[in-house]
Amino acid sequence: MSAHIEITVEDRVQTLRMNRPDKKNAIDRAMYAAMAEALRRADADPEIRATLIAGVPGAFSAGNDIADFVAIATAGQPTSEVTSFIEALATGTKPIVAAVDGLAIGIGTTMLMHCDIVLASPRSVFRTPFLDLGLVPEAGSSLLGPRLMGVRRAYALLVLGEVFDADAALDADLVTRLVDADAVEAEAFAAAKALASKPPEALAIGRDLLRGPREELLERIAVELKHFGERLTSAEARAAFMAFMSKSKG
Ligand code: COA
Repeated sequence: MSAHIEITVEDRVQTLRMNRPDKKNAIDRAMYAAMAEALRRADADPEIRATLIAGVPGAFSAGNDIADFVAIATAGQPTSEVTSFIEALATGTKPIVAAVDGLAIGIGTTMLMHCDIVLASPRSVFRTPFLDLGLVPEAGSSLLGPRLMGVRRAYALLVLGEVFDADAALDADLVTRLVDADAVEAEAFAAAKALASKPPEALAIGRDLLRGPREELLERIAVELKHFGERLTSAEARAAFMAFMSKSKG
């Protein structure tokens, strides 16, 4: 359970809202756990046929909570909550729609590669500053990113950490369609509701065919997490986390 993840079900669509506006929707361990559990529950519940992931106005997510990075750097491994969330995204059988408005950073960007439909407002920005934090791409993005947008653009996004504005994200197929900020969530909900009204068995098979075998993806996620865990304790990463935390008011 997390106070920062609101879960509602309406019209057979489960909505997961990241709601931690004071931290720009940085995702902490409890939030990962709540979202992983909700995705798994949706898979098992015939009354839920699609999931919508949304944020708050101006912030889809600022990525992993850097204070948690500092804490888990001591433990030396990504936490089980992060791993569970990533695996739930990668192995889920039901469609996921995302409504992005504003910041989509780190896993706020890479989780979109697991979504079937991504609607974003024109003011959205997408960025994965893994390299500058001394880290590596995660959530299967090192495999899915090049497939989605080609090696060169994936390198710019995932390794160099270049900022993609909404047009660039649309051009790179990270985003399905741009929608005005005040309508993005309603349209994303409508898209999820439309998916929920499709024949579920055929939808699951069609989705599975397009996504391909999960084994390769799960293997890649495991390799990424191994590197990520090691990088968290590196001098490069520690210095970057400390620099960020020293600016935080707490
Ligand atoms: N983890 C922890 N706290 C975060 C955070 C994160 N990923 N992103 C933002 N916050 C916190 C800030 O520390 C600040 O907290 P404070 O009010 O206690 O000082 C608050 O959220 C607001 O952020 P702020 O930096 O003041 O807002 P901004 O609009 O100037 O900048 C960002 C927003 C997202 C560009 C900037 O906060 C940022 O770069 N965050 C880090 C993103 C990141 O590297 N994520 C990890 C990717 S792997």
